[in-house]
Parts: sequence; C-alpha cells; structure tokens
Amino acid sequence: MNTFTPSPLQPVVHAVNWREGSCVLLDQRKLPREETYLECRAYEQVVDAIKTLTVRGAPAIGIAGAYAVALAAEECLRIDNLSARSRAFENALNEISSARPTAVNLKWAVDRVAKRVGDNLDVRAAERILEEAHCIHREDILCNQQIAAFGASLIPADSEIITYCNTGDLATGGIGTALGVVKEAYRLRKVSRVYPCETRPVMQGMRLTTWECQRNGIPFSLICDNMAAAMMRRIKTIRAAIVGADRIAANGDVANKVGTYALAIAAKYHEIPFYVAAPSSTFDLQTETGAFIPIEDRSPEELVQALGENRPSFPMGSINPSFDVTPAELITAIICEKGIISPPSKENVSKILG
Ligand code: MRU
Repeated sequence: MNTFTPSPLQPVVHAVNWREGSCVLLDQRKLPREETYLECRAYEQVVDAIKTLTVRGAPAIGIAGAYAVALAAEECLRIDNLSARSRAFENALNEISSARPTAVNLKWAVDRVAKRVGDNLDVRAAERILEEAHCIHREDILCNQQIAAFGASLIPADSEIITYCNTGDLATGGIGTALGVVKEAYRLRKVSRVYPCETRPVMQGMRLTTWECQRNGIPFSLICDNMAAAMMRRIKTIRAAIVGADRIAANGDVANKVGTYALAIAAKYHEIPFYVAAPSSTFDLQTETGAFIPIEDRSPEELVQALGENRPSFPMGSINPSFDVTPAELITAIICEKGIISPPSKENVSKILG
C-alpha cells in the first residue's frame, strides 16, 4: 500500500452541513446563478432534496442521508409507544436509503448510523446517531485529501485533464474526489487546464464544475459531451481523464454519471489513462460485477426540460438513465483513500480494501 501526505487543500464551499439541529444544503439546482441554502428540519425535506438533486454527488448524498437519519430519530422520539416508534423509524430508514438507488454511499451511510441505535431508539441513541453522522462527514473530508494526494502522484507534468460531471466540494464533504485530484495537481503545478464536459441532461459539468474551477482559480475550457473524443485527438497535452463513481463492484466495474462509459472508450482509443477517484464507501463488494448495479432511471421530463423554449410542441419520446457502467478493463486505476488499485480487478480491489 502506498503512502502520501494528504493534500492541505480545503473546500471553498460546503454542500452539506449540520447547524443547530438542521441539515443545511446548498441548493445545487440554482447554481451557478444563485447561492442559496435550504435548512432541513425534517428528514422528509432531506429525502426530497436528494431526489430532486438539490444535493447530489455520491459522498454528499451519503452525508446528507446520515444527517437525515439524525432528524428522523428526533422526530420518532416524539412517538411514545415504543413499537410504533421503532416502526416509524424503520420506515424512515427505508425512505432515506432508497431516495436514490445507484449511489451506494447513501445506503452505506444510513446502515452505518442506524447500527448505533442499539436495542431501543431513545435520547441517547439519537445522540449516537448524530455523532456517527458527524464522523462520516469528517472522514469524507480526510478521504478526499488522501485521494487528492494519491491521484496527483499519477498526473505527469504539463498536463491538461478532461473530467466529467461534478466531483468537487459540491459532491462531497471536502475538496472532492476526481476534482480534488485536479485541484491538488494544479496546486503542484502539474496541470495547466481542465476540460469539464457539460454532462447532459442537467449539466453538472457546465453549471457546477466550471463554478468550482472558477472559485479555485483553475483555468478551464468547457466542452460539450460529444466533443470529448475530438479534443483527445486534437490536444496532445490532455494526459489524463478522471471521473468519480457512484458504485464500484467487487471486480472494479464502475457506475458513474451516464456518458462516463463513452469517455472511457474514447480515452482507451487515444491511449489516455482513465482514472476513477472514489472513497472506499463507494465500493460495494457484495455486488460482483457492474451488471448487477441498479441504474437509476430519472424522469424523461428532465431531458426535454433542458430544451427550454426549443422544446417541440409534439410529445417527446425519451428515456433518461442517469448512470452507466464502465467495465474495469477500460480503467487504468481506481484511486481511493487507501491507495491506488491498478489495474482494477477482483484481486487488486480486495488487496487494497482489505
Ligand atoms: O446525478 P449526480 O449529480 O448525483 O451524479 C454524480 C456523479 O455521477 C458523480 O460523478 C459521482 O457521484 C461521484 S461524486 C464525487
């Protein structure tokens, strides 16, 4: 296992926070136009925020889910009858962990905090839940810094980097996963420019990654998703593609924002290393291969909404799978806080994750 000093970088914005009994979420639907925060005092508000992409990005969803359990526990304590209380709490746990199906960090975080309940949901148990949620949050900040250091070690000097979706402060508790690597490599003067893909249909790359690059002073040139292969051919200094993950199967197959698979194929063809950066909480070792990863189908309306005034008056037949699976064989390495898994395979995943 390799060791590195974690990156000293800090997030410039907090996507999720806990303040005075509320889960505070930066409303990412409104970025980059408006920076507004939503104060959630009930777990149902957090569930709704997760479903509507107010908060998004696998690790950030996990942290928000953990705080949602803390809110649910507080709510359920108002029920006097113990078996009714525990039933209500179970229902809340199911509702929270199923708010989005692909990002395994959500279920992982909910299960982890729920384990702290013990025999009965009482005041002490609710305190333990909140403690555990804070712990998940703090750990994610540190994981990001470790991932950034491992990842930056793989980036050669004079690089430009292509990335997908948003994987920075906005998607995690800290500086990000893939974008955290970019930030650290930029700090070390290895990277001169980032090419964020716009990431249709809801444009996390165009709206969020550019916003973060701007805030961190990192030069960027936005490209639309179907320009990626052409840019790889044209710009010889694109020396790496790096993305995040929503779930990684035991054999190293990776589910991430739809379009990641096409980017990995293009990178392979152009002999550009393709890296995935994710904390160990994104690994799902119970799922043998990517074929078994549940893929979230979102409303087709999301796709046509993006057409704005150009939306045709006839009914649009469309589908909207939110994620795809990139086979391990297209991935040069997976970077997690415990080390670099290269090449990704069942043996190498279990060697690093222990
Ligand atoms: O639908 P989203 O915006 O939640 O999708 C996010 C992604 O696909 C990210 O790449 C992934 O969650 C990793 S975030 C560090």
